[in-house]
Amino acid sequence: MVSSSSKILFICFIVSTMTCFVALATDNNPLQDFCVADANSPVLVNGLVCKDPKVVTENDFFTSGLNVAGDTSKNLVGSNVTTVNVARIPGLNTLGISLVRIDFAPWGINAPHTHPRATEILTVIQGTLRVGFVTSNPENRHITKVLNEGDVFVFPQGLIHYQQNIGHGNAVAIAGLNSQNPGVITIANAVFGANQDISADILAKAFQLNRNTVKDLQKRFD
Ligand SMILES: *[C@@H]1O[C@H](CO)[C@@H](O)[C@H](O)[C@H]1NC(C)=O
Repeated sequence: MVSSSSKILFICFIVSTMTCFVALATDNNPLQDFCVADANSPVLVNGLVCKDPKVVTENDFFTSGLNVAGDTSKNLVGSNVTTVNVARIPGLNTLGISLVRIDFAPWGINAPHTHPRATEILTVIQGTLRVGFVTSNPENRHITKVLNEGDVFVFPQGLIHYQQNIGHGNAVAIAGLNSQNPGVITIANAVFGANQDISADILAKAFQLNRNTVKDLQKRFD
């Protein structure tokens, strides 16, 4: 059987390369040099409304402070993600790219999560990380590797992935993502911390747990 992605690739191949890039792009391609987000516009569009290019300045494309570590002591997982997306740099609007700095305490984790709108490419600046992602059904193949300083790893769009600091000191990673606003769905929070709760009966059956265990998990993610 031909998989649907190979069908798409085949169709793209016979239609034209251009069509293929348009169809598979993550964020929309820009139609002008830039479209700096206008934070004050009340208009809602897919992305953000452009500021008048004449009033755009260098600071619309700039931020600083990524040399400062996020505080990993403020949560139970021992990591902190500093995001540099369109909310921080308005000039990223429509450009399909953003950045994060991830700090890890010893044995800290960036808990299993997915980015609905982006692939991620990560490099380790300091320390040693165990990283991994899981492919979609039915294989659910777990692909994992230990990364040292200077190593680079890719987490394909939409797949559940994680990182753990397995060294004895702090660890730091920088990652690029191909969306101005990749989004994050942290599995534990989305499933057990949904607001309002997903019915404990549903979760008990889905995770093959008893109802009290589900209730206990739900309390932890309130
Ligand atoms: C991340 O660190 C910043 C300060 O660097 C802190 O304000 C924030 O609460 C931390 N976030 C989490 C989720 O721990």
